[in-house]
Amino acid sequence: MAENITRLRKPDYLMVVTDVNALNRAAVDEIKTAAEAAIREHGRFSIALSGGNTPRAVYALLAENKDDFPWAKTFFFFGDERSVPPDHPDSNYRMVHEVLFSRAPVPAANIFRVSAELGAAKAAEQYESVVREFFKLPPAKLQPGQFPRFDLILLGMGDEGHTASLFPGSPAMAETSRLVVSNWVEKLNSDRITFTFPLINSAGEVLFLVAGAGKAEIVKEVFVTEGENYPVQRVHPLHGRLLWIVDQAAASLL
Ligand code: 6PG
Repeated sequence: MAENITRLRKPDYLMVVTDVNALNRAAVDEIKTAAEAAIREHGRFSIALSGGNTPRAVYALLAENKDDFPWAKTFFFFGDERSVPPDHPDSNYRMVHEVLFSRAPVPAANIFRVSAELGAAKAAEQYESVVREFFKLPPAKLQPGQFPRFDLILLGMGDEGHTASLFPGSPAMAETSRLVVSNWVEKLNSDRITFTFPLINSAGEVLFLVAGAGKAEIVKEVFVTEGENYPVQRVHPLHGRLLWIVDQAAASLL
């Protein structure tokens, strides 16, 4: 029997671009648009950066916007961090410092690094208090609807569907009240520090950046299969915009 191939109706939150250069340009445009809107609406732009390789070139391209970006009103956070010091090759902060913070006029006071050198549990606690202070939140337990709203959260996706440091089967998948937690990742045999789903889903906008043929299988899986088996499938901003920018190589099986 001929295989019943149903062309997936691409959801309106999926933007497929030709290649990684187009992805970098589209991502920078999206960041600039979000920054302008946020500053117009409430005078500042809060962005949480993702780590890994894909966003590296996006940050480098953004840094080229010397005078064409509101650096002084932009506040940089990290959606996750590895349990390493800031000068370690695996540090997300180190990567962003190399390609962005060391090249653009970002005020040091506008950079909120995860103090991962404290150890994951302490660093997560400390980062949660930094986020709460930035958004002027009390230390009390947050109820749904009280979570702070980052204007933009950038995310990537691993080849097993993880995002930030929310990996399938990891303890943080079940977190519903904290903003930032430490998370043991079995497959990496290491602890990570990560934003939680409630915090991610409170964002004004979540922007996924996914590129390369190596992601084609997982992209097909997460867009074609129903349910929330994969962490990325649990990212649905409650009152914000969701946008996936994916290059053709990663979208080739859709
Ligand atoms: C990290 C990231 C992680 C990343 C994915 C995809 O700290 O590694 O936050 O969630 O986005 O692993 O990484 P690539 O973009 O390098 O494939």
